Amino acid sequence: MHRVSLLVDTMADHATSGAPFPASRDGLHPLLSARALTKVYSTGVATEVRALNGVDIDLFEREFVVLLGPSGSGKSTLLNILGGLDNPSSGTLQFRDTDLTEADDRTLTQYRRETVGFIFQFFNLIPSLTARENVELITDIATDPMAPEDALALVGLADRMDHFPSELSGGEQQRVAIARAIAKRPEVLLCDEPTGALDVRTGTLVLEAIERVNRELGALVVIITHNAVIADIADRVISLSDGRVARVHRNAARRPVNELSW
Ligand SMILES: Nc1ncnc2c1ncn2[C@@H]1O[C@H](COP(=O)(O)OP(=O)(O)O)[C@@H](O)[C@H]1O
Ligand SMILES: [Mg+2]
Repeated sequence: MHRVSLLVDTMADHATSGAPFPASRDGLHPLLSARALTKVYSTGVATEVRALNGVDIDLFEREFVVLLGPSGSGKSTLLNILGGLDNPSSGTLQFRDTDLTEADDRTLTQYRRETVGFIFQFFNLIPSLTARENVELITDIATDPMAPEDALALVGLADRMDHFPSELSGGEQQRVAIARAIAKRPEVLLCDEPTGALDVRTGTLVLEAIERVNRELGALVVIITHNAVIADIADRVISLSDGRVARVHRNAARRPVNELSW
């Protein structure tokens, strides 16, 4: 009930204002809430790396967030923890009313399987399966999936479904990976440098597909990049530096992806 009323509320707001969904509003609870997260890697007898050094962030339903920061600042570590792929050394991570840092394996597996979609720099498609079959791997085990064909159409690949990865361009392969990630209708879509291996033109198509997922499926999107130009398409830009949040910036308006050039 709570979720439905929040959604209706947000949609009504959208309809009357015509503006992009607000990133957060007074009284709206965060979807994901991290407090005092740390991650320490021991790399040798006497050396340890503090990948995260006390991160506090709140991320809201339907928000489009860009996570910026230099190489080694802790972006991937944070994203993996947000997605339940890794555990923090200390601190808490809450998804709605569930404390994921206290959760049992079953709850965590369910969170990863049903709530989170992941997109990485390298597409990790199975070469011997077609685009459609790569997406079916996920839709076969999800609770309320989209049809693989619908997921592929959403990313502009309706006419490429029966192609193998080797018959697709890098940008098309990444869009198959996006279709695979979104076919389970994730509430949270986490993208680690999704355009890192792509040229500008195909990178733009990939960002457009991700933006569409945010707009049409209402997923909270977090995109890691070290390309500051991409930050303009976000509701909010969170900058990491040395394992800490250095800055949080709210864009006055989201810039359409097709206006970007980098
Ligand atoms: N599995 C690991 N073992 C040891 N150190 C790691 C591991 N993963 C990341 N690190 C270190 O943690 C820091 C943050 O890494 P990472 O989160 O990958 O940064 P970013 O994604 O911003 O480049 C870096 O110093 C990196 O070398
Ligand atoms: Mg990284």
